[in-house]
Amino acid sequence: MVEHRLIEKVIGVIGKDAQRIKAGGAVDVLFIERAIDFIRTYTDRCHHGKEEGILFRELAKKPLTADLEKTMRELEEQHVMSRQTVAKIEEATQKYQKGDQSAMADIARFMENLAIFYPKHIEREEKSFFFPCMKYFSETEMETMLNEFIQFDQNLLHEKYKELYVDLMKH
Ligand SMILES: [Fe+2]
Ligand SMILES: [Fe+2]
Repeated sequence: MVEHRLIEKVIGVIGKDAQRIKAGGAVDVLFIERAIDFIRTYTDRCHHGKEEGILFRELAKKPLTADLEKTMRELEEQHVMSRQTVAKIEEATQKYQKGDQSAMADIARFMENLAIFYPKHIEREEKSFFFPCMKYFSETEMETMLNEFIQFDQNLLHEKYKELYVDLMKH
């Protein structure tokens, strides 16, 4: 939930930039590239990574109610949708960079989609998922998960920059 607070803030800034572009403002490619990096690295790999790779994985072993199971599936589907939207923003930005002015409207629309979608996703997790799910875990299980979260975060920066190295090598 701490991570949600930062995601909300950045998504809010992205939404504002979408409005600025819609009002006729220029596309700031560097802003978009940095926003994409935030969503891919922080929101998706770091945050969704812990939700899906640790929390959901552990929840899948529990006898969840049909309702909670459905919510978990839908939350996962929304993560996929978020990835697809980021890919669409990237694609439209590349078109724009190649001189296609019509891509501006797509960039703004996809950024706006993200800004509308995310607060709802976060609200659903916090209001109707995380708390009811916690009762399936013992104190020890929660502590084990928390430790795994910490371990996961610790590896992340190293993983990101090892990947960057591989990328740089290709140049
Ligand atoms: Fe999520
Ligand atoms: Fe989340």
